[in-house]
Amino acid sequence: MAKDASLKLFQRAMELMPGGVSSPVRAISPYPFYVSRGQGPHLWDVDGNRYIDYCLAYGPMILGHAHPVIRERVAHQLEEGWLYGTPTELEVRLAQRIVDLYPGIEMARFVSTGSEATMAALRIARGCTGKEKVVKIEGGFHGAHDGVLIKAGSGATTMGVPDSLGVPRDTARNTLQVPFNDLSALEDLLKRNAGEVAALIMEPVMGNVGPILPEEGYLEGVRDLTRENDVLLIFDEVITGFRLHLGGAQSYYGVTPDLTTLGKIVGGGFPIGVVGGRRDLMEMVAPQGGIYQAGTFNGSPISMVAGLATLDVMEKEGIVERLKDSGDGFRRALSDIVSDLGLGFSVVGIASIFKIFFGDSPRNYREALRCDKAAYLSLFNKMLASGVFLTPSQYETDFISAAHFPEVIEETLEAFKSNLKA
Ligand SMILES: Cc1ncc(COP(=O)(O)O)c(C=O)c1O
Repeated sequence: MAKDASLKLFQRAMELMPGGVSSPVRAISPYPFYVSRGQGPHLWDVDGNRYIDYCLAYGPMILGHAHPVIRERVAHQLEEGWLYGTPTELEVRLAQRIVDLYPGIEMARFVSTGSEATMAALRIARGCTGKEKVVKIEGGFHGAHDGVLIKAGSGATTMGVPDSLGVPRDTARNTLQVPFNDLSALEDLLKRNAGEVAALIMEPVMGNVGPILPEEGYLEGVRDLTRENDVLLIFDEVITGFRLHLGGAQSYYGVTPDLTTLGKIVGGGFPIGVVGGRRDLMEMVAPQGGIYQAGTFNGSPISMVAGLATLDVMEKEGIVERLKDSGDGFRRALSDIVSDLGLGFSVVGIASIFKIFFGDSPRNYREALRCDKAAYLSLFNKMLASGVFLTPSQYETDFISAAHFPEVIEETLEAFKSNLKA
């Protein structure tokens, strides 16, 4: 597989951008492939190589690349202009859809990224409670801002820098950590910090250590403990939202948080984030209340249109249910391949997400760290050479889109079979 044009671009990029990339997870070793086109389940690089894409831009592209309905609606919106700095009907319509779907959202604020959404959610929690400490789950990634860049999973774990330089000590001191799937650790922590904790922020299914599922009763237990200790519960549904259920993991598991963050899918592949929650909390946000949040691109018409189009297609075509079936089938087939080969690996996932862990199925971040990262990387490179683009890290979730039709899945499973054997 020739990649000369990608190599040339990377050599230039190394002079121009830190690590040659715009976001750390894209720094595939020894150099990334540069994409010139995406269509359905496929990407093409500047050297003309084709890949089946299981990274899907880390989640937003649930309908596959260049979906015709999104393309047409966005093209129509471009005719009308694309940024006004005023309210639009589009944001009212999308907010209505979100409020109707999410039990935990009575009001919402649109922002431009998931990171901004979690940053705002934490500020709202602190502003409403007057408390400063927050709890996050070890390995949970909620974006790249100070308050949550401590023991963050994903790219930070892959690169061996779970804590970023430049995070003030006072900020780090106010971010406490507990392991996932461990109610007694949470109970202990909340007792030790009684009256000081504003919120617990967590992904209901951890998506940034590879997927780790909540054990039976865990989310209900978290809800009870946060309520008993007067701590707000924030579900970061940037990955799980519109994926486990159109109403997110909170609808799927029947556990309602106080605040919710959304992103990725709800922008149809355009920049978006949403912070929403209980009316009494959201009414504290400016200009209604004294908790400041603002943005030039908040509620961007293009993102609103793409989000509305995505939800229309998902609802009309029953995409969540369809992807559950193809995800279940895919994970079963991959598990069979792994066990037939007598490999001690595990295949984990739910709905349209999956991961092959080079080790036992982890129940938290510490267990996930025991997996064989180097072996995963070797599989990643072999799969890439076979034309299958998995996420480059053992600690990133892989995604399946509605455009991954059976023949594409079959081709992928064949590639897994030969490469795992190798
Ligand atoms: C759970 C979760 N929260 C927040 C974020 C940050 O979102 P964004 O990259 O849009 O800032 C991510 C990004 O991957 C995420 O997975």
